[in-house]
Amino acid sequence: MARPLSMEFVTSGDRVDRLPDSEAEIAIVGRSNVGKSSLINALANRKALARVSNTPGRTRLLNLFALDGGGSVMDLPGYGYAKASKEMRASWQLMIEGYLLEREGLEMVVVLVDGAVGPTVLDQDMLAWLRENRLPHTVVATKADKVKSSHRQRRVKEVAAGTGLESGDVLWVSSKTGAGLERLRGLILTWLE
Ligand code: GTP
Ligand code: MG
Repeated sequence: MARPLSMEFVTSGDRVDRLPDSEAEIAIVGRSNVGKSSLINALANRKALARVSNTPGRTRLLNLFALDGGGSVMDLPGYGYAKASKEMRASWQLMIEGYLLEREGLEMVVVLVDGAVGPTVLDQDMLAWLRENRLPHTVVATKADKVKSSHRQRRVKEVAAGTGLESGDVLWVSSKTGAGLERLRGLILTWLE
């Protein structure tokens, strides 16, 4: 059983070369509002480690968290925040892609897909980009608590099909109920080993 991950915020930055090195790191990416910051809090069983908001586009920088046992987790700004200006979106995209391509020690990119909404074109673009660049990635569906049990089976299939995976290869989590978190913590510890 994987206990809450003990971690602390280290620093924020807008470029890889301004961040402290990490020997092993997990990055959390996904659309704006998909639940990245909430997931980091839930993994650590903390309320306000990472900044959560109803307003999309809350996370604007690369936010680095260090685990007590070694390794780190990166909270990234979300893509596709519609209300941001075109210039801002372009600069976020450069920040995210630059980070993903240049970060040494990046062991796994955890791609969050909103389980209540299903994969969007932006999610599919991100996955295609990760595959093109041969970056190791895992798809995690968030907000499992928002999917009615009568819709669950169909949605599980939709998310798998929309991300080009088998149903069993998508991990479902809820930061609200804690569903799936133990499994994800265990995977994170394995990736960081
Ligand atoms: P940006 O920083 O804007 O990219 O967003 P984010 O991906 O970090 O999302 P954030 O964690 O800030 O959460 C966005 C909204 O979704 C908040 O209102 C959260 O409370 C809500 N939320 C996150 N996870 C869950 C979940 O598992 N279940 C439910 N019901 N709501 C969630
Ligand atoms: Mg965030």
